[in-house]
Amino acid sequence: MTTFNFSDTIRSWYEIHKRDLPWRDTRDPYPIWLSEIILQQTRVNQGLPYFERFIEAFPTVQNLAAASQEEVLKLWQGLGYYSRARNLHTAAQQIADRRGIFPDNFKGLLDLKGVGSYTAAAIASFAYDEPVAVVDGNVYRVLSRYYGIDDPINETMGIKKFQKLANEVLDPKHAAQHNQAIMEFGALQCVPSSPDCKVCPLINTCKAYQTGQVDQLPVKIKK
Ligand code: ADE
Repeated sequence: MTTFNFSDTIRSWYEIHKRDLPWRDTRDPYPIWLSEIILQQTRVNQGLPYFERFIEAFPTVQNLAAASQEEVLKLWQGLGYYSRARNLHTAAQQIADRRGIFPDNFKGLLDLKGVGSYTAAAIASFAYDEPVAVVDGNVYRVLSRYYGIDDPINETMGIKKFQKLANEVLDPKHAAQHNQAIMEFGALQCVPSSPDCKVCPLINTCKAYQTGQVDQLPVKIKK
């Protein structure tokens, strides 16, 4: 018997709908890390040319480590949140001190400057297929709607609940593809306002769709 499976469904959807992005066809942690830092507060369309200029200027993490802070900040100009660029440079130096070798697991990656649990999970899963779930704004939206969860996503309880659920739905045999898929699904299909649920492959099992709560989820409380 075949049963409906959340991860299988979004991964199948992903293979059809995914955007062709340069940090997706690699297992090299350097471009993966660089892209995730650039994309932290930046949309893909805006970040893409910056990613390309960085890779062009600094093809290896050692090249980035050896650059001056001035050079790095100059290339970053226009992206904002300049602490990201300073942390990027510091982390490159941490990695250069390890002969250019990135930590090879989630826990080790957390020691890099500017790398928090989201970025460590992204690198660990995309580069090494480590089964750790990424939880970003897209993931909160997809999970809160699909499972009909109204815990606020900006409170400790809610954050813990979503992190636990995200790890439970992750298929450990397909960590990289699953994490890319759920983020892409949130970015392209399960969008914040007026998603086109009629074409959604999860429509028949989506709690928010069934209860008419799509526009009310996820919940974020004003502080
Ligand atoms: N936003 C953050 N990480 C991303 C990724 N790997 N692909 C597309 N968008 C993203």
